[in-house]
Amino acid sequence: MRLVFLGPPGAGKGTQAVRAAQELGIAHVSTGDMLRSAVARGTPAGKKAEPIMKAGGLVPDEVVLEMVDERLGSDAAEGFILDGYPRTLKQGEDLDRILSRRGMKLDAALELELAEEVIVPRMAGRRSCPKDGRIYHVTANPPKVPGVCDACGGPLIQRPDDREEVVRKRMEEYRAKTTPLTDWYRAKGILVRVDANGTVDQVWARVKEALSKVAKAKGGRG
Ligand code: AP5
Repeated sequence: MRLVFLGPPGAGKGTQAVRAAQELGIAHVSTGDMLRSAVARGTPAGKKAEPIMKAGGLVPDEVVLEMVDERLGSDAAEGFILDGYPRTLKQGEDLDRILSRRGMKLDAALELELAEEVIVPRMAGRRSCPKDGRIYHVTANPPKVPGVCDACGGPLIQRPDDREEVVRKRMEEYRAKTTPLTDWYRAKGILVRVDANGTVDQVWARVKEALSKVAKAKGGRG
């Protein structure tokens, strides 16, 4: 399966993409995680991205394209969920181009839909593990020990771009730059919308159902 997960910041793309990738046995490719790792390592891409991410803007297309292209040639060659990429029409076209160069095409773009008033509290309560990328929420999805990653025991952090004013800027970017991409996938007939309201498990049940329909349709196409 070759999938894209779309949705506004905090819709739960990362949370659901990790589960779906595990279930399907395919790679989870998060451009946000890759960029945060590049920032932490101080690479040239990370240095370029850091101030833009802090302000809630989008990193230049060519920076993310290079990262995604590399993964498609390695662990994501046999199937993937792209989480947070593409997020502009130009990135969508770039992705089609690098996939067709490898004789691949997308099976579906799954859009997690969530109202703005639910987003801000979700982001304010998010805690993540900088070491293994695991995502928690102080009330909706808490770790066993507050502030400590269940998996690696490392300290959890609050992302610097989760401050309310930065979240609002990220939502503005999503509305302006990602909505045309969503419309483009709808016109191609591969957009699948999922209601992202409710608990993590309720949303997961909807995601699973949507993915099984995509798998059936793919099987039907041979
Ligand atoms: P990125 O990391 O991709 O951020 P995002 O798209 O804004 O999405 P988030 O990671 O904030 O949210 P999510 O939808 O994954 O939600 P999550 O599952 O964590 O990108 C960060 C930045 O990098 C961008 O702003 C940009 O600068 C740059 N960037 C990345 N990709 C780029 C690209 N392609 N081009 C250019 N720039 C790029 O959930 C959020 C919280 O809610 C968590 O605490 C979680 O536990 C909780 N939660 C999840 N589901 C539920 C639920 N059902 N009920 C209650 N709580 C829930």
